Amino acid sequence: MTQDELKQAVGEAAVQLILPKLEEESIIGVGTGSTANCFIDALAKHKHLFDGTVASSEASAQRLRDHGIAVYDLNSVDMLEFYIDGADEVNHKLEMIKGGGAALTREKIVAAVARHFVCIADASKLVETMGAFPLPVEVIPMARSHVAREIVKLGGDPVYRNGVVTDNGGHILDVHNLSITAATELESKINQITGVITNGLFALRPADTLLLGTSEGVKTLTAK
Ligand code: 5RP
Repeated sequence: MTQDELKQAVGEAAVQLILPKLEEESIIGVGTGSTANCFIDALAKHKHLFDGTVASSEASAQRLRDHGIAVYDLNSVDMLEFYIDGADEVNHKLEMIKGGGAALTREKIVAAVARHFVCIADASKLVETMGAFPLPVEVIPMARSHVAREIVKLGGDPVYRNGVVTDNGGHILDVHNLSITAATELESKINQITGVITNGLFALRPADTLLLGTSEGVKTLTAK
């Protein structure tokens, strides 16, 4: 199976997972990226079964609306039963690196509201130790150099993602050469640097379920 086929398989599997729990008034949290797009396309066939969605990026909101699915402002929603999103890396504790698509802050906010975070990923994303994928950090633009210097003190090698402005007006530093063995501590430490909006470690709030696309089919993993 190609990587695209694996992404489609996990997108469809996520729909099958949430389908029995959907009610007329359900609102679903929807992530960002090529795997999340597969979920959106699979979800569209069942749009009559739920009320609408909250999206973690303008790009996903547009894709949902193009399918005729309602997109709500998160402020008008008390609770989301499910948040479905991809990851750049995920470990066996279901901690993740996210933000390859620069949507990390909104992803973290929507995930914080959701009862159940379902990560959907092809098998290449499952790792023993995170850090081979550079860790995205969203910063207030004027703080970029300050944050970069502080990250160097933590042992990382930050690279400015030139030309990228996030949906929140932030800039992105991609931090190379980290071997992340204590993800919750590192997530907190980086978030405490003045000028950081948030970083792409999802360890304080990991996923609850991982649907992993493999050549033997979609595997369901829960945190070890
Ligand atoms: C976007 C993200 C995505 O979930 C992550 O980059 C994975 O993307 P893809 O499904 O395209 O591999 O965090 O900010």
